Amino acid sequence: MDNQTMTTPTMLVCPDAESASLKAAELFAEAIRVKPNIVLGLATGGTPVAMYRHLVRMHRNESLDFSRVHSFNLDEYLGLPPDHPQSYRAFMQKNLFDHINIDPANTHVPDGLTKDPERHTAEYESLIRRAGGIDLQLLGIGHNGHIAFNEPGSAADSRTRVIELAEDTIRFNARFFDSIDAVPHQAITMGIGTILQSRQIVMLAIGADKAEAVRRAVKEAPSIECPASLLQTHPHVTFVVDQAAVS
Ligand code: PGA
Repeated sequence: MDNQTMTTPTMLVCPDAESASLKAAELFAEAIRVKPNIVLGLATGGTPVAMYRHLVRMHRNESLDFSRVHSFNLDEYLGLPPDHPQSYRAFMQKNLFDHINIDPANTHVPDGLTKDPERHTAEYESLIRRAGGIDLQLLGIGHNGHIAFNEPGSAADSRTRVIELAEDTIRFNARFFDSIDAVPHQAITMGIGTILQSRQIVMLAIGADKAEAVRRAVKEAPSIECPASLLQTHPHVTFVVDQAAVS
């Protein structure tokens, strides 16, 4: 990581999971109000569920308007159809898109059923570029320091591509499936280079089991062994964490 300007990410430490989720939702709501045609990068997983619940509430009760918002999701399991309950497209519909006034045509999630991943991933990159690039990207962090499905060892300049999931990731994500054997072994993920091109990044990390990954991300020298540590090379990253995730 020579010749890079390192930045210490801003840390917003909230007392508990609920206040961290609210804080992250407020940051997104504010950004949407400032730029109604904002391009958002969105994440799935257990972490952002409560944050999305707040965004839905703000849409309903505080007239937060998504009508001109565009979104690009970070990743999708390869081989899962969009209506599979564990697909990330289904997650987004259930937790956010079905409850707000975003134009479905403006929501993008990689296609898990693509027959031509190389072409599809190149097109995904090109769609992001044509939308003007991602203004605000939401991230979660894996126990092994992954961001999106960029597992340890992913290149800092990697782009959207197919990746083999780490054993660790398959094990942790098995909780969402009927059995560990049902978890796909491959996914399409935005690359680290793609993520680092976002203008602003919010990393939401909740819970004591994320503390070690958060510590490595912000305290250790940037290395592809902990993909989240590469966020130190980006000038506008905010970690929104609960107390447990930094204890
Ligand atoms: P989680 O996943 O929100 O389900 O903990 C985060 C991640 O693996 O990036």
